[in-house]
Amino acid sequence: MSHFECYDCGHTYDLEHTEFPCPKCEGILDPKYDYDNLDVSREEIESRKGSMWKYREFLPILDTDDIVSMGEGTTPIVDCPKLAEEMGVARVAIKDEGQNPTNTFKDRGASASLSGASQQGINEVVIPSAGNAGQAASAYAARAGIDCHVVLNYQSNDIQKTMVEAHGADLHLVNGKLGKAGGKFSELRDEHGWYTIATFQTPFRHEGKKTMGLEIFEQFNWDGPDEIFYPTGGGVGLIGIWKAYQELVQLGWLENGTPPSLNVVQSSGCAPVVEAIENHREEHDPWECPESIGRGIEVPNPGASPWMLEAVYETGGTGVAVSDSKALKGALTSAQHAGIEMCVEPGAALAAAIQMAEEGELNEDDEILIINTGAGNKATDALSYVIE
Ligand SMILES: Cc1ncc(COP(=O)(O)O)c(C=O)c1O
Ligand SMILES: [Zn+2]
Repeated sequence: MSHFECYDCGHTYDLEHTEFPCPKCEGILDPKYDYDNLDVSREEIESRKGSMWKYREFLPILDTDDIVSMGEGTTPIVDCPKLAEEMGVARVAIKDEGQNPTNTFKDRGASASLSGASQQGINEVVIPSAGNAGQAASAYAARAGIDCHVVLNYQSNDIQKTMVEAHGADLHLVNGKLGKAGGKFSELRDEHGWYTIATFQTPFRHEGKKTMGLEIFEQFNWDGPDEIFYPTGGGVGLIGIWKAYQELVQLGWLENGTPPSLNVVQSSGCAPVVEAIENHREEHDPWECPESIGRGIEVPNPGASPWMLEAVYETGGTGVAVSDSKALKGALTSAQHAGIEMCVEPGAALAAAIQMAEEGELNEDDEILIINTGAGNKATDALSYVIE
């Protein structure tokens, strides 16, 4: 890594900079790399095992002693031939992020952001979350020996709330929805000067999620699927995959120059990015009354929407909103036709792919990848309502 660059105003900062987001414009700071001098080959990367840190040259941590890891990433791509047949496409595969240490893909962002905090000599961090990111952050903070404050809403589920406290983090519970957790978080951060690991305030979380994209390309033999369906809240993973694609193109590592279409899936009860796509806009309008049981994708005002929309438009992707009941059905379909346990948000992603197949929007030679962002055990309550 060579420096941070603001996605919004282009201002650059050196590696020691700890004030996030961009002090000039409140924009997103993005780690940049000197890939002209990259000291690792595709073959060397393929031979490494273990965790997402096999891609350490693509990550913003300079000294391996600062890495906070417990084997996150390197999750399998699981083929689902039965689903492919039913959907009339060549291949359906699921990237099973439920197999991460705290059962969601949030572990990648937590590993990177707590490693970033260690690198910067930080001993107290704060994060607002719908639940999963807070649980992941508290686990990695415990491992790093860093004090962690997690702001959740009361509606976060018992697993998330209990495990935050089990890891020894300070749990701050507020009424209402994610926006209110965000408000309380800002208050605490400003009052105590705690270091932020909030979505797109820290420059490290989307870098951690970038490894999901790097893995996908490697697992597809340095090519990619035709379509990726991603359950989208703040868009951290979507932008991570988009960055992975761009960096691999820059390095000349991909076999084929065409990117996979990146498809944003949201809930019809909170779909600001899908609405922006439908209206060909470059930015979203905040969603007035967010209402979804897929709380990880119930994000009414995602600050990184211009970057997400760039990823969708540049890759020929689209936006699909599905109801909660379709999302739950999607999760059950995965459990019953592929054996893979999903929570509500990735259930929405599978439901959206099935819907597009039914509408004739997918081709028979398409290879489809669904990101299973979180395991079924995060949503047993919700799932139990739809089991017949
Ligand atoms: C299970 C699950 N899926 C998807 C998301 C959305 O993630 P992102 O912020 O990367 O869009 C979340 C975020 O909380 C989540 O917990
Ligand atoms: Zn800026």
